[in-house]
Amino acid sequence: MSFPQTRLRRLRSNPFMRDLVAESTIDPSKLIWPLFVVPGKNIREPIPSMPGIDHLSIDLLVQEVRAAAAEGIRAVLLFGVPSEKDDRGTTAVKADGLVPQAIEAVKEAVPNVLVVTDICLCGYMTHGHCGVLDNQGHIVNDATLEILSAMALAHAKAGADIVAPSDMMDGRVAAIRTTLDGSGFENTAIMSYAAKFASSFYGPFRDAAHSSPAFGDRKSYQMDVRNSREALREMELDIDEGADIVMVKPAMPALDIIAKARDRFDVPLAAYQVSGEYAMIKAAAAKGWLDEKAAIRESLTAIRRAGADIIISYFARDFIRQQ
Ligand code: PBG
Repeated sequence: MSFPQTRLRRLRSNPFMRDLVAESTIDPSKLIWPLFVVPGKNIREPIPSMPGIDHLSIDLLVQEVRAAAAEGIRAVLLFGVPSEKDDRGTTAVKADGLVPQAIEAVKEAVPNVLVVTDICLCGYMTHGHCGVLDNQGHIVNDATLEILSAMALAHAKAGADIVAPSDMMDGRVAAIRTTLDGSGFENTAIMSYAAKFASSFYGPFRDAAHSSPAFGDRKSYQMDVRNSREALREMELDIDEGADIVMVKPAMPALDIIAKARDRFDVPLAAYQVSGEYAMIKAAAAKGWLDEKAAIRESLTAIRRAGADIIISYFARDFIRQQ
């Protein structure tokens, strides 16, 4: 049957009808809200390239998570922005480091909120790369795995529910799984940044995390934007190595990868709406060029429609408030 009997507009006639037939919904329990933690007390420092997002010291971070939890946030992703850096990421593996302390404080104050932590060394390295360097300035894969595993273990000991390696070294999921299991943390989950592209959309984050590479770029470890079959291989390998959840990053520039991964794999699939995606919407809305609320909803819906189960977004709290 076709027109005039078939009229697709029939099911669009009013909001109740549209809701009835809506294929995608955004469930607040599947949103993860990222936060940046800095050393010190009573510090709230706005991040210029990410309006509405602040650097927070642990005391204010706890207040923020408690308030967000009361509004419906159920999972947070913590990034440490330490003041001390070296060329081995030494502060990343300390049991009483910035992030472990933040995890403990959040877990104590708001025990029900899931705490996810980013596992990567770039913010802890003077050179800003995600792994250790050899004399020629190449990023050394296998030596980095030990440090990442130690970092993940420190976070697990502090009470992290999920560790999320974002470095893109080969073999890091297996290394972290082995280390965690060897220390009795077999219940700490791993969400791997499995298909993480070398994207220009991380720019604002690097201001926020003070993690820009001092030389070169991340193209020898993060994925080439031109590749999609390779993205599926990355995800397959991480699943084989023991990833509980795999992630695609960035989100809107990689909707095709999300859709393919959803078809191919049966593990929970996450997508990260990154800092540049956030900043674009914020900047256009500030100029009056976009309706911010509508753009937030549409972007999250598109990511969900492509097939992501879980969405990591700086808009998570705003979105839940607007419900
Ligand atoms: C650390 C890391 C980055 C992001 C998450 N973890 C930056 C990068 O890889 O350069 C990006 C997050 C964002 O842009 O919101 N490696």
